[in-house]
Amino acid sequence: MGSQEKPVEKIVVRGLEGVVAAETSISYVDGVHGRLYYQGYDIHDIAEQISFIECIFLLWNGRLPNRRECDEMRNAIVGEMKLPDAVLELLKASPEKSHPMAVLRTAVSLLSCFDPDADDTTPSANYRKAKRLAGQIPTIIAHLHRLRNGLPLLTPRPELGLSANFLHMLTGNIPDELEKRAMDILMILHADHGLNASTFAARVICSTLSDMHSAVTGAIGALKGPLHGGANEKVMGMLHEINHIDRIQEYIEGMLENKKRIMGFGHRVYRTEDPRAKHLRKYSELLCEKTSQKHLFEMSHRIEKIVFEQKGIYPNVDFYSATVQHALGIPAAYFTTIFVASRTPGWLAHIIEQYSDNRLIRPTSKYTGEMGIPFVPLGKRG
Ligand SMILES: CC(C)(COP(=O)(O)OP(=O)(O)OC[C@H]1O[C@@H](n2cnc3c(N)ncnc32)[C@H](O)[C@@H]1OP(=O)(O)O)[C@@H](O)C(=O)NCCC(=O)NCCS
Repeated sequence: MGSQEKPVEKIVVRGLEGVVAAETSISYVDGVHGRLYYQGYDIHDIAEQISFIECIFLLWNGRLPNRRECDEMRNAIVGEMKLPDAVLELLKASPEKSHPMAVLRTAVSLLSCFDPDADDTTPSANYRKAKRLAGQIPTIIAHLHRLRNGLPLLTPRPELGLSANFLHMLTGNIPDELEKRAMDILMILHADHGLNASTFAARVICSTLSDMHSAVTGAIGALKGPLHGGANEKVMGMLHEINHIDRIQEYIEGMLENKKRIMGFGHRVYRTEDPRAKHLRKYSELLCEKTSQKHLFEMSHRIEKIVFEQKGIYPNVDFYSATVQHALGIPAAYFTTIFVASRTPGWLAHIIEQYSDNRLIRPTSKYTGEMGIPFVPLGKRG
């Protein structure tokens, strides 16, 4: 390094831990007390009381809707569930072994080419696109699964409500009351979560004044990773791998000794239990019991106990969401796509909030390379 050229000293905050990168009124994660608020409402007060459609309205409008507004919102979103033919063709053409998250990410990107408001980032166009994406994304997921399994594609049943309709379009079953409630809770609990990695990715993208579809596509890419939304699928893999309650102690100890991560545990922000895990634990137990798979819940519960004893860490949202989804008949390869469908309204709320008071998000880095290396032309390099 040339002696006169030294980079300015900078402090790196690895993983941006604790860095405040945006202001938001959409949700607040209180990691110290293990609380989560959506637009001011404690998640424990609303999770069991509202529907997913009320949750979307709340995230987008900052208040709970009345019945008429709920119906209007539901009809608007369900009315947007049909996919352009080209997107359907893409689902059919996707290699069978490609991961549903990869196909979903690509399909959402393709949707932008058919959206009449694609590059219009005015508030009214963004609101129209938000409703379209909230409708189209569940359809992509449901259709992909059914196409890959040679099953007929199903049209929406709006009278079921948004979440149960989605489950129906995916599995073909009409959910009973417990399944309806579980699906709604699952989607509500995943709908928003402060400045998590995928939401941050979405905000970074639209801070360049790029369009909503680009931001959602990028967010899907971020959610796909096993340290974020991809953990729920891995949890199911772990349960299958362990296979028996008597093997748990040995398995977890082996993982920890080898410095491996236990999927569905730990959190960047929570220092106590993830409040969402409490609700999902309850529905996991109810659904596993109902579907004669109580062993899966019992194994999960035992894993939770042992991981806490060994490492002092708690389950996060992904841990019990795995068995909830499994017992709802959702294949593990689609777990993270369900997270996408649930989180999309949260991303959209953040994208709209970012546009409303935008400043380019552009951090800096600490340079660790060399400087002032003498240049050698191509012909003179050995
Ligand atoms: C979510 C997650 C990425 C947060 O990571 P983070 O804030 O960067 O935390 P760190 O990686 O600094 O971990 C801190 C300590 O906890 C341990 N830890 C955190 N999560 C762990 C897990 N799931 N399994 C085992 N150890 C874990 C780390 O090994 C580290 O221990 P050490 O100090 O003894 O080395 C992390 O907890 C994780 O990898 N979890 C598993 C994946 C998952 O469930 N993701 C979904 C999140 S909602």
